[in-house]
Amino acid sequence: MGSIRHICCIGAGYVGGPTMAVIADRCPEVQVTVVDLNAERIAAWNDPDLAQLPVYEPGLDAVVGRARGRNLHFSTAVEQTIAASDVVFISVNTPTKTKGLGAGQASDLKWVEASARTVAKAARGHTIVVEKSTLPVRTAAVIQQILESAGGAAGGEQTSFSVLSNPEFLAEGTAVADLEAPDRVLIGGQDPAAIEALASIYRQWVPAERILTTNLWSSELSKLTANAFLAQRISSINGIAAFCEATGADVREVARAIGADSRIGPKFLQAGPGFGGSCFQKDILNLVYLCRHYGLEEVAAYWEQVVTLNHWQQQRIARLVITKLFGTVSGKRIGVLGFAFKADTNDTRESPAIRICRDLLEEGAILQIVDPKVSERQMAQDLGQASAPTGRPSDGSWHQVPDILQAAAGADALLLLTEWQQFAQIDWPAVAAVMRRPAWLFDARAKADASAARAAGLQVWTVGEG
Ligand code: UDX
Ligand code: UDX
Repeated sequence: MGSIRHICCIGAGYVGGPTMAVIADRCPEVQVTVVDLNAERIAAWNDPDLAQLPVYEPGLDAVVGRARGRNLHFSTAVEQTIAASDVVFISVNTPTKTKGLGAGQASDLKWVEASARTVAKAARGHTIVVEKSTLPVRTAAVIQQILESAGGAAGGEQTSFSVLSNPEFLAEGTAVADLEAPDRVLIGGQDPAAIEALASIYRQWVPAERILTTNLWSSELSKLTANAFLAQRISSINGIAAFCEATGADVREVARAIGADSRIGPKFLQAGPGFGGSCFQKDILNLVYLCRHYGLEEVAAYWEQVVTLNHWQQQRIARLVITKLFGTVSGKRIGVLGFAFKADTNDTRESPAIRICRDLLEEGAILQIVDPKVSERQMAQDLGQASAPTGRPSDGSWHQVPDILQAAAGADALLLLTEWQQFAQIDWPAVAAVMRRPAWLFDARAKADASAARAAGLQVWTVGEG
């Protein structure tokens, strides 16, 4: 097998876009083309104005700026690109199934299957197919079957395939830094030549000892397990946060004390409104589904509880706001600070803000939402149209506002849900002056300057502080 000259990635999303941009940046001799069925998305990736890229990630504009047009391309020509490539990454979305067998838990693999079929049809010669999407264990076998059944002679030419699993561990908001200096790169597969070819790409910038190789199933399961362990830490600390609030302890003190134990470590111990993002919940539910499938009921129930506690935390915060505002938020203005599922991203998938805002809207609140990167169009997709409420007078409404002062205008409370840096530097006297008294700050991320808010006359609730 010769060295890799042309890479194709199917799926120009939060994973495919940044990952391929960094590969292209670090491997100038390899042509990298990202393809997507969504023409609007591809056009946005090709926008001359780098501020218009469809994914917001710190540093991504610079990377794309360097490589685009040189050896990084974005295109809708899926089949042509596959035909010209030695390696095809599959990085399409794998949402939780909403109906049918495994609804609510299993991953919907229809896009992965469709991608495999397209590869089977369009590939020429020998092609390495890499699964990048998070997939249930043994999906590689499905991809392999589809490819093999098509293998042989496409267009009169002999074709063959090697399937690899190469899960992505980047976190949104730090995607570029994570890709440029990963803790590890994991490659699972059966074909040593294919593994070596992919490893040689990563070795252009990742130290060889950080490139781990294993078999396909272990690689697939490692991704689910990593996300399950990370999410479990968040549910654990959020459970302790509620306990701290009830008993007068401070969860940040507890986190500091336990994090100093090198066996536990200090990361991923921040209490908050619960985890969001496209991966954690989906991957745990997937794990739960698979455990049940293999008859491991206790193991399934154990992991399921991580998700249950996450939902409970979100409900708990919505209820707490209502209770503190004298048991009703109907007709009251609440300023919502942050809508993305974490700071430094425009992504709102599974954002805790969605569930919390919906609960408050159901109680009749008027939400004034500010987020530096999330568009009003996205909020409307997540919450329903701002301008088209249900018509029932008891239902609330929402609208996006451009700044913190307008979120606070006439409001009884500010609810901080995403830890954007600017929320740490609020001009509290100015904000307090435009709110209705008694005014509250509910800080679900412990991000704001609570003493400054108190000094300005607000009552303050901080997650995990008793
Ligand atoms: C996705 C998965 O959700 C995640 O589990 C996996 O680890 C990586 O891929 P993400 O990149 O965040 O993550 O998804 P998304 O931003 O939705 O991007 C997927 C893209 O694939 C979309 O732009 C979609 O248009 C495209 N797509 C989907 C295709 O081009 N072809 C298809 O058949 C299906
Ligand atoms: C996660 C994994 O970290 C990454 O390795 C995997 O590839 C994809 O899933 P991501 O979802 O992008 O990445 O972000 P992450 O930083 O893990 O945060 C997930 C959620 O947990 C966010 O809602 C975040 O606010 C929350 N979180 C994280 C906490 O509430 N407390 C913490 O201490 C850490």
